[in-house]
Amino acid sequence: MCGIVGYIGKRDVAPLLLEGLQRLEYRGYDSAGIVIAGKSGGLKAVKAKGRVRELEARVPKRFAGTTGIAHTRWATHGAPSDVNAHPHLDTEGKVAVVHNGIVDNASELRAKLEADGVVFASETDSEVITHLIARSQAASLEEKVREALKVIEGTYGIAVMHADFPDRIVAARNGSPVVLGIGEKEMFVASDVAALISHTRQVVTLDDGEMATLKADDFRTYTTSGTRTTATPETVEWEAASYDMGGHDTYMHKEICEQPDAVDRVLRGRIDDKFSTVHLGGLNLDAREARGIRRVKILGCGTSYHAGMIGASLVEGLARIPADSEPASEFRYRNPVVDPDTLYIAVSQSGETYDVLAAVQELKRKGARVLGVVNVVGSAIARETDGGVYVHAGPEVCVVSTKCFTNTVVAFALLALHLGRIRDLSVADGKRIIEGLRALPEQIQQILAQEEDIKKLAAEYAEAKSMMFIGRVRGYPVALEASLKLKEISYIHAEAYPASELKHGPLALIEPAMPTVAIVPDDSLLEKNRAAMEEIKARSGRILAVAHREQEKADHTILVPKNEDELDPILMGIPLQLLAYHTALALGRDIDKPRNLAKSVTVE
Ligand code: AGP
Repeated sequence: MCGIVGYIGKRDVAPLLLEGLQRLEYRGYDSAGIVIAGKSGGLKAVKAKGRVRELEARVPKRFAGTTGIAHTRWATHGAPSDVNAHPHLDTEGKVAVVHNGIVDNASELRAKLEADGVVFASETDSEVITHLIARSQAASLEEKVREALKVIEGTYGIAVMHADFPDRIVAARNGSPVVLGIGEKEMFVASDVAALISHTRQVVTLDDGEMATLKADDFRTYTTSGTRTTATPETVEWEAASYDMGGHDTYMHKEICEQPDAVDRVLRGRIDDKFSTVHLGGLNLDAREARGIRRVKILGCGTSYHAGMIGASLVEGLARIPADSEPASEFRYRNPVVDPDTLYIAVSQSGETYDVLAAVQELKRKGARVLGVVNVVGSAIARETDGGVYVHAGPEVCVVSTKCFTNTVVAFALLALHLGRIRDLSVADGKRIIEGLRALPEQIQQILAQEEDIKKLAAEYAEAKSMMFIGRVRGYPVALEASLKLKEISYIHAEAYPASELKHGPLALIEPAMPTVAIVPDDSLLEKNRAAMEEIKARSGRILAVAHREQEKADHTILVPKNEDELDPILMGIPLQLLAYHTALALGRDIDKPRNLAKSVTVE
């Protein structure tokens, strides 16, 4: 959730770290801090509640040094404030720690340390790590950190500096990502490649239980028990420019507009016209195994859970395998029956979401086969699963997901087609779906071309205090996702219901001040959807339909190009991303950084 960046080398460190923090701000943005090794020895720290720009304003002109670590925070323990911001320093100001994750036994450790006379400055769980390191009698910094980590329960990605060891930064990982950036006589450490990609594309991703020592011209990795590990730098494929706004006012707008290219990317090189199927290189599932699958269970959170719902209907529709999607956060706590003939699929754009990762680990422990549908290459979930499909959306910086959602659903369509063609999907149907997939980028472009009209509609609906979203079967997850998007960035309350459930309760909410967005594809349920709109109209409700043809019962219709029935949900969600965007814009919201949210939820 929070962001870490550190540097050791020859360059002036403060501007480098502040730039890194700006790039990481999407991970958490309630406070930030920086510590550097001063030229005359000792550590110098500055912290500030608020955004990175607040921190930048506080950093003094004379803040010179060539080694430092910095952090941008999303509060878990302790409110956002100057003191609760990282880095946390010990009482003597010799040890500085930045931490992502949660120390589960922090209260117990804190009580012990306080009983020994340690005075805490903050309310955070992270500060215990600092004091444990500071109190260690071990000779080396590595050993001090190792001793501290031995008593810590929970998750961490940390970077540590010590005034007595100014030639190094020590990092460690358990459950929260840590990557090392390898440069020419300079090294970086970060929680995310976003922070270092403009300086080096050579990275080493630490595994859980791994530590690293970074010096200006050298690095080494080893386990928390001290055994050396081999770390070969890999080249990051994503371009530094992908993290820029590219002339748009917000990342969200940029990412919505990138969808035709992103979809093109997830399809590229995967379609096999000869057999009307697709090749998915990293699946690690042979045809015999694919034929033996009796159920598919998809697990994800938030938007990824919704993408999984559409994925389940694709798998069920094309491969005729019973499939469903469940919030990973619920699944892992209900002691689920783990069935050897079920294929489990973990969905996560970041590949870091803790609830998804924990569900994967629980499933693996019980011997299940788990695949991943993930955007971030080499992320924790990608590494933990037995195989999977990368969604190739490119970096998504806005906290709310748009292009990753779309690409995830397309990746599911590829997987469903692949499984279908191994099972009972005909060549003709395979061909039909492939043609539909190929049409998507151009059709998305046609939807994006309607932005001005959608903007006008958004201005009209932005005054609503609450909105209803309805859809049936394939349209229902589209409604769920659209309502989540609106809530996340406009803060307008929104409910999503299957249209069929309206008269079982939510119809009571309908009145002129509660507009409804109805998903009305031209499919076998068209008349049923029209009947639901009748019911709303009869109660004086306003309706905005997203449909393939003009809807008489609706006050407004956004027209979407028709694709194959199975693929229609991919297109129907896109105008509603724009609707949420322009509603939030009309209300003056901070679109890329909505209140209380962070991009990757790496804690429970
Ligand atoms: C997306 O708009 C949300 N910010 C959120 O629901 C997100 O999808 C969820 O936290 C899961 O994230 P993941 O895909 O990175 O696992």
